[in-house]
Amino acid sequence: MPSVDTLIQTIRTTGAGASCTPDLAKGPWEFDRVTGYGPGSSMGDVIPVGAPRQGGLPEEYRLASNDELHARIRAAKETLGSRVVILGHFYQRDEVVQHADFLGDSFQLANAAQTVPEAETIVFCGVHFMAETADILAKPTQNVILPNLAAGCSMADMADLDSVEECWAQLEQIYGTEPDADGRLPVIPVTYMNSSAALKGFCGRHGGIVCTSSNAETVLEDAFSRGQRVLFFPDQHLGRNTAKKMGVALEQMPMWNPRKPLGGSTSDQLQDARVILWHGFCSVHKRFNVGQIEAARAEFPGVRVIVHPECPMEVVDAADEAGSTDYIRKAVAAATEPTTFAIGTEINMVNRLAAEFPQHTIFCLDPVVCPCSTMYRIHPGYLAWVLEELVAGRSPNVIEVDEVTAVDARLALERMLALRPKPMPGDPAPASTAHAPAPRSREGVADAVVASGGPVGSTAGSTAAAPIVEV
Ligand code: 13P
Ligand code: SF4
Repeated sequence: MPSVDTLIQTIRTTGAGASCTPDLAKGPWEFDRVTGYGPGSSMGDVIPVGAPRQGGLPEEYRLASNDELHARIRAAKETLGSRVVILGHFYQRDEVVQHADFLGDSFQLANAAQTVPEAETIVFCGVHFMAETADILAKPTQNVILPNLAAGCSMADMADLDSVEECWAQLEQIYGTEPDADGRLPVIPVTYMNSSAALKGFCGRHGGIVCTSSNAETVLEDAFSRGQRVLFFPDQHLGRNTAKKMGVALEQMPMWNPRKPLGGSTSDQLQDARVILWHGFCSVHKRFNVGQIEAARAEFPGVRVIVHPECPMEVVDAADEAGSTDYIRKAVAAATEPTTFAIGTEINMVNRLAAEFPQHTIFCLDPVVCPCSTMYRIHPGYLAWVLEELVAGRSPNVIEVDEVTAVDARLALERMLALRPKPMPGDPAPASTAHAPAPRSREGVADAVVASGGPVGSTAGSTAAAPIVEV
């Protein structure tokens, strides 16, 4: 199976197949000065003022061939030895992932860093919010580097602290701030892991909690036990799909559009709300539609359709299963008979699964090659550059969350870590169903992750919930 980059270059030169834009074939440094997220992002994605921008990549890295870059990355890695650990997200391009020490989802990777305390530097080949979370969970002595600062996440950027605080003030006017007779607060804020550290900090300060796509249901259960309703940001689809599965009626899930008064809902709708959904979405997962599922079923009778819960509700409803990147990976790995899988998530991950499990037929539901455009901006040229800078004793592109924000954000993460996840098919039975005590210290978070069963290579149940795949 050719890598996504090879596919994109082939489409450009032969015209066979389709990518969402021919600009994807260019080097990401060509877009350092554009104001948007670059090729592949949707028109609705607006890069926030003040978002980190990447300064130019030196010419020697822009002009080098992939072979030369790979040789330079390997040499720099060898020189740096255990002082550096490279993390690669499931959606990262193969040309980068081949140099990663760990491959996994965002939360697994944030925790992976803690299993290598001797590493002074964590090079996070993912997107900005992932590097921030790694910094929050890392030891104070560890630096986290994002090789291309333009690797943001358009969904995470759809909710910013000012807009959420403005929303919160309006909700306080409607609901007040006092708990009900059962001690439940009027609203519990829940932020998806795909959000800025500032929003995780907001949740920490307001009795809120972080969730991932692996544990959203467990987190919502916790939030409903402590609050009368939930404000869920930034991904409306994960919020809606999860709450619907838990039996919340669609009429009780009004949308909050930060550009409209009362978020675009009436105060009656808000009074009756159980989950207030922020108007955010992922431009990659928004591309999946029911027509693609129908086409897959027509062409491959018996196909197993699995989609990520960031997909729109009608797509999740039409699929056989929906689950996080970790769920998708486990589902494919667990299939004992040759199976045809149509998968609705980012194409780098889907194509890698296809290469890894050749006994199955695995394809992406979207026939158009359209990777996560921001993740894709981490090209081997940037990885070679940051590693060689480290060899030279310099640390470029360090992602550092200020300590005031980090303390609050850690609190929201700790509340999540203290919950037991729902068991997934194939998971061994947990030793205890009791809630783990919430850790308090920076080190405590690491202890809780390890204690709850999420060290590298483990498959035991945990909030981290999954093996980190060593590559
Ligand atoms: P994970 O949380 O599974 O890593 O997914 C991150 C993501 O960005 C999904 O779009
Ligand atoms: Fe963000 Fe979507 Fe990319 Fe995930 S796939 S990092 S949600 S833009």
